[in-house]
Amino acid sequence: MPGDGIGPEIVAEAVKVLRVVARRFGHRFEMKEYPVGGAAYDCCGDCLPDETLAACKSADAILLGAVGGSKWDRLPVPQRPERRALLMLRSELGLFANLRPAKVWDALTGASPLKVEIVSAGIDMLIVRELTGGAYFGEKGRGDGGRSAYDVTPYSVHEIERVARVAFEAARRRFPQGGGCDGDEAARRRFPQGRPKVTSVDKANVLETSRLWRETVTALHDAEYADVELEHLYVDNAAMQLVRAPSRFDVILTENMFGDILSDEASQITGSIGMLPSASVGVSGGGLYEPIHGSAPDIAGKGIANPLATILSAAAMLRHAFGLGAEADAIEHAVASVLARGLRTADIADQGGVSVSTSAMGDAVAEAVGVVI
Ligand code: IPM
Ligand code: MN
Repeated sequence: MPGDGIGPEIVAEAVKVLRVVARRFGHRFEMKEYPVGGAAYDCCGDCLPDETLAACKSADAILLGAVGGSKWDRLPVPQRPERRALLMLRSELGLFANLRPAKVWDALTGASPLKVEIVSAGIDMLIVRELTGGAYFGEKGRGDGGRSAYDVTPYSVHEIERVARVAFEAARRRFPQGGGCDGDEAARRRFPQGRPKVTSVDKANVLETSRLWRETVTALHDAEYADVELEHLYVDNAAMQLVRAPSRFDVILTENMFGDILSDEASQITGSIGMLPSASVGVSGGGLYEPIHGSAPDIAGKGIANPLATILSAAAMLRHAFGLGAEADAIEHAVASVLARGLRTADIADQGGVSVSTSAMGDAVAEAVGVVI
């Protein structure tokens, strides 16, 4: 689903890369395109048409560009692209866990706004954001004739447990095989105790939902994941540590709104939000894959958007929804190799450096995927 703004341009590049993957590995992907977001409002009077929702429910996996734009900002709130398309899709499909890996690519250490000694300590984390609860979905409204407002932030033990489980499992998977961090300085910084690590982020000094969050995560940890190191951080401190010492993080587990905010922060310290993919997974189904950035209407149609976050989302889709690990690796290696060759879109180009267009970047990745090493 291309969606709005730069969505169609970046999804086209991911589809280009998927076609090359199919050719190289002998697969056939059945891909169908559906309207979503403002584009769907314009064509069908609804940001999430029934046909689109039904197609999402029956698909093995969903690849999404981005939705939203000022053109649709005047629609009543429940009909706007963000709420009607994105939030509705997440809740209708039960996509309760959003995985947002943030790492600095070797070739892009210079793109981070942080000092080189902080970046070179290694940045490679996974933010696991709860996606269908909290203030986004709680009761909301106005009182006092419109002069006061509220957004309730509900969380249940069940909702906290299931997303915490995703984080603990991911931490075990991400820990170096065999446990050896020897010789790998960055891994030693991420895993100071030599075991998998989860940092749970909350605001338990103020919020009741956060106190339930902390209790529930701790209880699940003690019962089933005692092999994983668990630390708790308040969200204000976590925001500070992300710029002060990002190399200390491996898996960050947090609630919906904190995860939204911290993942934008994490993306920036890795260089550009244009590089970060995401996977949203749920109880059943293959999940939804999308870049973490928005529709960027200001640069839409100019051919300068960075397609890599979407291309990397397609790689995540191959790995998680279809179990095609070698194919996903091929895409990720191709991205690393075009970056190593110096190809840059405008958002990641050095100051005064040359940049290539959206489709030139997509072509380069597709070509690199097609080269069998
Ligand atoms: C994201 C986006 C969305 C969110 C918006 C567009 C509703 O910022 O996926 O991070 O806040 O979840
Ligand atoms: Mn966001």
